[in-house]
Amino acid sequence: MDVFNAITTRRSIRRFKAQPVSIDDLHFIIEMAMSTPSAGNLQDYRFIVVTDKAMIKELPDFCMEQMWISSAPAVIVVCSQPAVQKKWYGASGDIFARQNAAAATQNILLSAHALGLGACWVSGFNQEKIDDFFDATGRARIEAVIPIGYPAQKPEPKSEFTINNMLFFNTYGMDISEWDKFNKDYAKIREKRLGELHDRFKEKSSSAKVVIKDIGKKLKETHVKVKEKLAKENVKEKK
Ligand SMILES: Cc1cc2nc3c(=O)[nH]c(=O)nc-3n(C[C@H](O)[C@H](O)[C@H](O)COP(=O)(O)O)c2cc1C
Repeated sequence: MDVFNAITTRRSIRRFKAQPVSIDDLHFIIEMAMSTPSAGNLQDYRFIVVTDKAMIKELPDFCMEQMWISSAPAVIVVCSQPAVQKKWYGASGDIFARQNAAAATQNILLSAHALGLGACWVSGFNQEKIDDFFDATGRARIEAVIPIGYPAQKPEPKSEFTINNMLFFNTYGMDISEWDKFNKDYAKIREKRLGELHDRFKEKSSSAKVVIKDIGKKLKETHVKVKEKLAKENVKEKK
């Protein structure tokens, strides 16, 4: 599965088959998480792999009674080390530590999905109790609990905002007038492009570098077009 398809087809999975997750898969997912960017390249995220069934059963007690968590065959816990970041970056370090862990969490979700596993980001927990449960108090902060297993559900398609609700140009709130004319069939273009990329990755995974280069070129072209368009168009602020 290529990265674009992994990103667009990943969903939160909250029901799992009884089938265990292999240690090799869990190990591989952690290796992927270790490639996550981090402020100052401090790589301060840490991971706890939990396969102890009794511990997994107890997790809902600290996670707002989310009972479904107890059915997961495995759990990966993502920890941050605010103290490590604060030593270098002062007060900002606290936020950096959390951001690093969040980025690692997303890498874990995508890697699990690409391996055919299902997972869900859980941060709805009692901080003090969960830190204590994992013996992290005073050493690290639990940022995410990720139940993982083979999916026993296929989530309904979710509604998403359209790009013109999400994207501004140059400054927050700035929109190109007549956005629809500029980019009218964007949803179709996106689907077509994802389909093409999927086929190309299937054909030859070794051609990945070429595809990425193509995307880079396309992005550059689009960027130039947008700049030209902006120069011509009236730019108005969104209310
Ligand atoms: C910071 C954060 C905390 C979350 N905490 C929980 C949680 O405690 N329980 C849960 O079931 N899902 C949790 N989620 C998952 C979201 O509910 C889910 O990502 C969202 O509904 C979108 O669905 P999708 O993941 O299928 O795209 C969390 C997601 C994020 C990013």
